Amino acid sequence: MCGIIGMVSKDDFTIQDAFKKLKKLEYRGYDSFGYFDKELLIKKTGHILIPKTKKLTRMAILHSRWATHGGVTDKNAHPHQSCDRNITIVHNGIIENYAELKNSLQKKGHRFSSETDSEVVAHYFEEKVKKKTMKQACVDFIKEIKGTFAILVMKNDDDCIYALKRDSPLVIGPSKRSNILASDIYAFSDLTDKAVFFDNDEFAVVDSEKYTFYNELGKPIKKTVQRFRWEQEESLKKKFKHYMIKEIMEEPIVVKRLLFSLKTEQKDNFERLIRLIKKQEKIVFVAAGTSYHASLLGVYYLHKCGVEAQALIASEFENFAFLDEKSLVIPISQSGETMDLIEALKYAKEHKAKIASVVNVPYSTIQRMSDVSLNIMAGQEICVAATKSFVNQVTILLSIAKEFGFKVNLDTLPTRIESVLGQKNKIKKIAKSISKKNDMYVLGRGLSYPVAREVALKIKEISYIHAEGMMGGELKHGTIALIEKGTPVISLISNKDHDMLSNTKEVEARGAKIIMITNSMPGDIRLQTSNDGKFGILATIFGQLLTYYIALERKLPIDKPRNLAKSVTVK
Ligand code: M6R
Repeated sequence: MCGIIGMVSKDDFTIQDAFKKLKKLEYRGYDSFGYFDKELLIKKTGHILIPKTKKLTRMAILHSRWATHGGVTDKNAHPHQSCDRNITIVHNGIIENYAELKNSLQKKGHRFSSETDSEVVAHYFEEKVKKKTMKQACVDFIKEIKGTFAILVMKNDDDCIYALKRDSPLVIGPSKRSNILASDIYAFSDLTDKAVFFDNDEFAVVDSEKYTFYNELGKPIKKTVQRFRWEQEESLKKKFKHYMIKEIMEEPIVVKRLLFSLKTEQKDNFERLIRLIKKQEKIVFVAAGTSYHASLLGVYYLHKCGVEAQALIASEFENFAFLDEKSLVIPISQSGETMDLIEALKYAKEHKAKIASVVNVPYSTIQRMSDVSLNIMAGQEICVAATKSFVNQVTILLSIAKEFGFKVNLDTLPTRIESVLGQKNKIKKIAKSISKKNDMYVLGRGLSYPVAREVALKIKEISYIHAEGMMGGELKHGTIALIEKGTPVISLISNKDHDMLSNTKEVEARGAKIIMITNSMPGDIRLQTSNDGKFGILATIFGQLLTYYIALERKLPIDKPRNLAKSVTVK
């Protein structure tokens, strides 16, 4: 959460150029935004507005905020400045000991102008540089600060940016006459394919010609320049009104690309992962949100072919996981930066478990923490709602299960997906008929239970309608009391599942408006597959389209729903 950018160049660039970079990170948080270039300071609530000015500069820091401490106000927007305005900072993360620090700085006469934890950083450096160099102050900062941070600091009389990192992501995109610092590679993937990633408790001094990295003791360290590949054209919205629908429509292509890569460039890693599953005694998936629903499907598919596995929610991992060196932890993540997962993986490492990740963003923290990692090859996903990334996560899990005997023909998956996309007008009509409801339920059993949870999550997140994804069998143990005349109930029935059909009839008898999604009986939407594995993916795509059209009907901000951000990089 929060996107940060720092640019330092030998040549002039416009403020607009800088804002365009920030705009690429807006999906990380969009409560407010800000800019500083030693002369001009901008702090504003709302979505990023690119200023009209043609003003030029050679150095700037920018921020797009997802609020943690302090409400969404202009004052709480970053950058924050010291009392003397000599130090200006942007921060992503949480300073856990900010209250103590603020207290002691206030006693020394510092005046604060925001309610944020981050402002303390500017005053901290102001105080330190009274007696020390910025480099020494960075060493002290890493020693004395508790919490997580990717921080960029500008000091008015220096021609460089100081960058510090612990747990929150930070990377440099180097090029001949400039260096860009950013929360992730999207910000500069149009300029360079080179990246230098920060590791924890490192800092760097970055000017237009060079960057020097230091460890927590202030000793210079060598870093490797990584080359990355990124499908740039996919971050352009092209002919679609929203990224969400564009990303859904890309699903057949990204599935094809993934399946091809598993037989070519990712073949070795795929085989290593299969060997690890065979060798380790305990398989534990860990994920959050949509990625957790994908991992529940993974558990289902593996169980069907006799491999025991479990799936845990990342934020509760330590409370429910029992791990040792014979365990294999499989984190699933689109961003590869979800803080709860990173914490879970630290715990897994402490317990000597092996880590085999499934992620979308190359070189993300989770990928770099793994013994082996598979890329889901979905390309950049900008809409906050995970759509094509979920489809490719599940496709990888099906490919894995297939190695253990799960019967599925994945070659036909792209055309089966096209057949759901081809029913979009029918789905639009269903969406219209329920778009004014306040509550809805999605029911599933077995493989369609994780799908029910995923469809409900999409409906809540993008359509702002309360929705519950439930096991069909659990309904009569309480929730059925909420079913009234006209309550929409989406029922996901794969392969003549008679128990699921009975659960559907039970709510229909109590007045529910049933929307039946099946592959084997008459229903509102018929999915073209007899395979349980593919049913999971196709039924989810139905839910993605339904959500999109409900939100469209309700005129909601589809790509950037309120209170959310794409990467959840705080605990
Ligand atoms: O990047 P990750 O897959 O680790 O993110 C996990 C969740 O935050 C994410 O799946 C979230 O639930 C989706 N935005 C929902 O559409």
